[in-house]
Amino acid sequence: MCGIIGYTGEENVKDVLLDSLDLLEYRGYDSAGIAVEGHEGPHVIKCAGRVSDLRVICESEKFFTEQAEGCGIGHTRWATHGGVSDANAHPHCVGEVTLVHNGIIENFRELAAHYDLGEQLKSETDSEVVAALLNHYYDGNPHDAIKKTVSKLKGTFALVVLFADRPGVIYSTRNVSPVVATVCEEGAMLASDLTALCRFTNRYFVVPEYHILELHRDRVMLFDLEGNEKKPEFLSADWELNSAGKNGYPFYMEKEIMEQPKAIERTIECRVAGGMPDFTREGVPDSLFTDCERVTIVACGTAMHSGLVAQALVKSILHMHIDVEMASEFMYSDPVLDEKTLVIAISQSGETIDTLEAVKYARLRGAKCLSILNVKGSSIARESDYVLFTNAGPEIAVASTKAYTTQLAVLYLIVAKMAHCRDVFTTEETQSFIRELQRTPEAVEKVLAERRDIHLLANNVLDAKDLFMIGRGLDYSILQEGSLKLKEVSYIHSEAYASGELKHGPIALITQNTPVIASVTQEKLMSKEMSNIREVRARGADIVLFIKKSLAGSVNEDYRTFLLPDMQDAFMVMPASAALQLLAYYVSSDKGFDVDKPRNLAKVVTVE
Ligand code: AGP
Repeated sequence: MCGIIGYTGEENVKDVLLDSLDLLEYRGYDSAGIAVEGHEGPHVIKCAGRVSDLRVICESEKFFTEQAEGCGIGHTRWATHGGVSDANAHPHCVGEVTLVHNGIIENFRELAAHYDLGEQLKSETDSEVVAALLNHYYDGNPHDAIKKTVSKLKGTFALVVLFADRPGVIYSTRNVSPVVATVCEEGAMLASDLTALCRFTNRYFVVPEYHILELHRDRVMLFDLEGNEKKPEFLSADWELNSAGKNGYPFYMEKEIMEQPKAIERTIECRVAGGMPDFTREGVPDSLFTDCERVTIVACGTAMHSGLVAQALVKSILHMHIDVEMASEFMYSDPVLDEKTLVIAISQSGETIDTLEAVKYARLRGAKCLSILNVKGSSIARESDYVLFTNAGPEIAVASTKAYTTQLAVLYLIVAKMAHCRDVFTTEETQSFIRELQRTPEAVEKVLAERRDIHLLANNVLDAKDLFMIGRGLDYSILQEGSLKLKEVSYIHSEAYASGELKHGPIALITQNTPVIASVTQEKLMSKEMSNIREVRARGADIVLFIKKSLAGSVNEDYRTFLLPDMQDAFMVMPASAALQLLAYYVSSDKGFDVDKPRNLAKVVTVE
């Protein structure tokens, strides 16, 4: 999962590349580099570390003080083959070829041996082998060299290439790993995703797999591998220009948490007509929901956690069979799939390879696939029968927040649609469900308005090493996501447990002052949840209680508490989740961590 950028045009190419890498750094951030064309060939600067470290080096480079407009490529890395080092950073130069790559070449060792490339290699990476192979085949014809090279590669790749004797032109080709491109008055650009393009324009196209893109200063040209020119299919991102900036917040995560009320509202309101859920704009037929006999949700991480909430609702309202599968396990678990199975894939990026492969696997077995995605033109969008897009806008922080709550918004709409289509809900009941859903932005807004209280609660867990989150039913689903948030940005070992399960082993881990976060939002489960809370408190646990306001009055003991705004039980997930997102955010930021780029993580996982 790396960030790649290419630019050719009138702007200061170093600045465009470095600023773009800043925006793409969430995709991987252990090393970075740029190559800019100069009179004596590409000038390459690269280093282990962040883009900010690279920028310091570039600022002192005489080459860049003289170099302004031009052509160049850049890369920010999440290490796969080869450790974090200057040598393993991209770009890689071999002979006439300078290259950056996102993906994994599975047969790079065999290729290095077969073509005896070892002498030319200065790194441990698969990417440098590709550069050497391109150079091996290059005899002045870029398309021919690219075609021969990709025919030998096994694996995933987005390649961006400069040929020394082709100044001003950038070449690119891909398989699975994403590349989007555009041309505008500032020049021509390509990148791993839209966040780097939407500073200049929201018009873009997805580079089709196994095609060759040429970026020229004033035009882009697309060819298939047989040399036939193709017309790019331009799309328009519904993102405002510069919406990928921090807008004054210290971290993207805080900005994106705070954007949730509007993002949820945008996602709901464009799909409600006459008080009823309406998917006609996206061409999703009611038959998709009436003809299926079972539902399977496939996703990873936070996206999977939104699926857990949908599972609870589908079972309790529709009394239908529904599975939630970790996409990485899905293909190896012999899932029951047929033409009566509705597969719902959930993914913010639309590029998570585990989820992408699960969608392909399911469709091959006759299942229909509806995807819930946040990025138009993404790989999963292209593999799905139907897509419902969340209107979250660009989500840059590695920790997913507004994508999660807007995924939930779409899932609640789907549940309402299914309940009405299958005559479980009357029209009035459906409209009542939708009205409560339309209250969620306001409920989340109330939580955000009291974020100072959450910040104070965060201080109680700052020094925790291990932490438990306990709840039942939907509270347990809420906490599974809350636990992942805390884990991934604060590095505290947090685990969510169904509180009724504690007695069957995990309670052995509770000792004096063990921090326990409890969620109590489901009235029918409250009595048992409070019993479980008392059990751990009796063993010394230090409790922080997130409880629905109307339930708090019947709690007799004294706990550190955050009162959640009242909604019907089934709708408490979003306000409760927003509170737990803030908790994780404040713990991480108060510990001095780079909240947006947690260690070892990347925003988009495009390796299996
Ligand atoms: C979320 O906080 C995590 N960074 C991660 O679990 C993420 O949700 C997962 O990788 C799935 O990504 P996707 O939604 O882009 O498919």
